[in-house]
Amino acid sequence: MKYKQELIGDLCAADGIGDVADRYAKQFLALDALAMERGLRLYNRDLVWLNDPEFWGLWKKFPEWRRHRPERKFMLWSLYRSVAHLGPCTAECGVYTGGSSFLICQEGERLGHLKKHFGFDSFEGLSEPTKIDMPTTEEAYLWAKGDLAVDEHHVRALLEPCRTAQLLKGWIPERFDEVGDAQFSFVHVDVDLYEPTLASIEFFYPRLVPGGILLCDDYGAETCPGARRALDEYCERFSLPPVVDLCSCQGMMTKAFV
Ligand SMILES: C[S@@+](CC[C@H](N)C(=O)[O-])C[C@H]1O[C@@H](n2cnc3c(N)ncnc32)[C@H](O)[C@@H]1O
Repeated sequence: MKYKQELIGDLCAADGIGDVADRYAKQFLALDALAMERGLRLYNRDLVWLNDPEFWGLWKKFPEWRRHRPERKFMLWSLYRSVAHLGPCTAECGVYTGGSSFLICQEGERLGHLKKHFGFDSFEGLSEPTKIDMPTTEEAYLWAKGDLAVDEHHVRALLEPCRTAQLLKGWIPERFDEVGDAQFSFVHVDVDLYEPTLASIEFFYPRLVPGGILLCDDYGAETCPGARRALDEYCERFSLPPVVDLCSCQGMMTKAFV
């Protein structure tokens, strides 16, 4: 292992030399070595998805894309496009500023499969957390009613380019019935708490087409124990296979072909 001073030297030396790719590679190696000294690792930079032109071409069209972490968005985009051909409808429970709905709509419209995307949100933030939602680790953030409230008009403006998007403001599950007899190829559940997560699965899982996917953004988050509990309980109640526990923090449920 190199000494810290030497590594910082590498970092500075890399600053003004070579082309951009060469510089980044050298900086990355030096930073990674520094991190390893502290028992940490940097995220692997040699991954194909970090340069996927289709994903980034789409994602960078969303005006606020820099405010989001891309790995979960990439997973959502990749999963959705694998099932988009199975049905003309999608839904998102918990829209927030609209990044995920934007990706679903843009990809579905580009592929020509999507007719309607329903987005449900209070736009007044979270509902009241219950005891089940209390994190078990001290470091995890404690949710409060009203967290993550956003200006509905701002979200509508961001989703303006998406002709298939329909936003339904209200507390989950109040407006679910408005989807009528629609069947869904893909549903994104991202409401952080036990009660609205369970209500979303109870409504949408039976409405998934065979082969369809229900993706929960919060399944692996220590801050969202209620979301994990809701998915696990539902699977147990109906003897479904275990949730696919993705290391991106998301949890995935599929509907079997019969
Ligand atoms: C983490 S954010 C969603 C992020 C979004 N899916 C994305 O990918 O950017 C959670 C959202 O769920 C909404 N929400 C939470 N509980 C709700 C409830 N009971 N009814 C309606 N919306 C709720 C909040 O208003 C917030 O916008």
